[in-house]
Parts: sequence; structure tokens; C-alpha cells
Amino acid sequence: MNYLEQQTEQLLEQRTEKFIKDSLFSDEVLDMISENMRPIDTLMSYYKCASMEVETKFKVLNEQFSLKYDCNPIESIKTRIKSMDSILKKIRRKNIPLSFEAIENEIRDIAGVRVICSFIEDIYMLADCFLAQDDITLIEIKDYIKNPKPSGYRSLHLIVEVPIFLHNEKRPMKVEVQIRTLAMDLWASQEHKLRYKKNIPEDEQENISAELADCAEIIASIDRRMENLRTRMKSSEYMEKAKKSSKNIGDLIRNGLKNTIGVNKY
Ligand code: GTP
Ligand code: MG
Repeated sequence: MNYLEQQTEQLLEQRTEKFIKDSLFSDEVLDMISENMRPIDTLMSYYKCASMEVETKFKVLNEQFSLKYDCNPIESIKTRIKSMDSILKKIRRKNIPLSFEAIENEIRDIAGVRVICSFIEDIYMLADCFLAQDDITLIEIKDYIKNPKPSGYRSLHLIVEVPIFLHNEKRPMKVEVQIRTLAMDLWASQEHKLRYKKNIPEDEQENISAELADCAEIIASIDRRMENLRTRMKSSEYMEKAKKSSKNIGDLIRNGLKNTIGVNKY
């Protein structure tokens, strides 16, 4: 390329850049983009409200159990809204029509709430209490604790509809609730990280998957043992209390009799 050609190319590049900036970043175009984004932002904020509603319901249950039974069934709660990138990938993967209605109907995990418990028993107790609330509609329940996935994944999934109250309407929104133990959560987060590691030869990937499935079994057995320990502790505490209270009742009766006999003497 000679000097003249180089200069012409440089000038063309500069003009193209200026043209793109002037036309694409003009006020009209930027206004148009933000105008078109508004319905998406609004929908995402509705999902955020729905996840807040569900989170509050679980917090209220935890508070009530801690007051009434002196136990906190919930260790922690995490909420997340699916990123636009993941929504678009799911639309492509599941061939979902590009309409708000189809997206709302077919993508049921845009709002996600993850509830972490210490014990399996508490997972089912919380799910029952939550689903018994009259503004919650159960769409689907997937029990990956009773029926673990081939990967070893365990968790109780509820797809529910919860109403959010806007200034002029009540709008039902879908939320995916995942309830699992601390141990199941540790496994799922580590397995998720490992799954996304690239450049691992296929045979090694198979070995890792097999070992992960094995770890999931060990974790499930630990969850069961911890639950048995809790039951044993609760029942021995109960027996001890019952023994003490029957001794107290015995003492009361004996003292009462003595006093009665005493009174009769005089
Ligand atoms: P998605 O289209 O991925 O949402 O799947 P689905 O609609 O068939 O639902 P499914 O109940 O199988 O999974 C929903 C969510 O559970 C996933 O997005 C993960 O968060 C979690 N999950 C399911 N299977 C696994 C697994 O094998 N490993 C881990 N780490 N997480 C899992
Ligand atoms: Mg999902």
C-alpha cells in the first residue's frame, strides 16, 4: 500500500467511525433504545418484587419457628434474577417465541429463591407451610431429594405463582424456589463450578463426574446421620423433662398428702 492509499484508508476509517457515532449514538437512537428496554426493565422489576415476596414469606416462617419452638429451620436465603444473557440463551435453547407472554409462561426460573436448611426434615416442613399459604399457587414440584438427578444433585424444587400488588393491579408472577440442606448446597455449588471447567479430557471428565456422584451419596448419608442425631437428642431431652416433671408431680402429691395429714391432725 502506498502513502496515498494509506492516507485514504485512514480518512475513510475516521469518517466511518464519525458516521457510526453520529447516527447510532444520536439522541433519537438512544431514546429509542431506552424506550424499547422499558417493558423489559419493568418485567424484571416485577420478578424482583416476586422474589422479595417469597423471601419475606420464608423469613416470617423462620421468625415464627424461632419464637415458638426455639429453633431456626433456615440457615440462609439467597435470591437472584436471571441475567438477560441467560434468558436469551434459554429462549434460543428451548425455541421460545419472542413475546413477553411466551417468556413469562415458559421460563419459570427468572426469579429464583434458594432456601438453605440444616436438616432434611425442615425442608419438607417449610415447603408444607409455604404451600399452605392461600396466595401461593403450586405450578410444579420436583423432589430431587427423594429422586436425585443422575449427577447426584439433590434439592426440593417448587415452581410457584405469587401475586405482587402494584399500584393499580394484582399480578401473579412465577418463582422457582430451591430448598436444600447446607451439605447439598455445598455439593451443588462445587459441582456447578467444576462442570464449567474447560479443557479437561473426556475420560477424566467421566472420572470426575463419577466421583462427584459418589460425594453426593456420602453427603446424603451425613445429612441422614445428622438428622438421626437431632431426633435422638430431642427424644432424650423430652424423656429427661418427662422424668423430672413426673418426679415433681410425685413430690407435689407427697407434700400435698403430708400437708393434708398435717392439717387433719389439728
Ligand atoms: P433449566 O432449564 O436448567 O432451568 O432446567 P429445568 O427447567 O429442567 O429444571 P431443573 O429442575 O432440572 O433444574 C433447575 C435448576 O436446578 C438448575 O438451573 C440448577 O440451578 C439446578 N440443578 C439441576 N440439576 C443440577 C445438577 O446436576 N447440578 C447442579 N449443580 N445444579 C443442578
Ligand atoms: Mg434454571
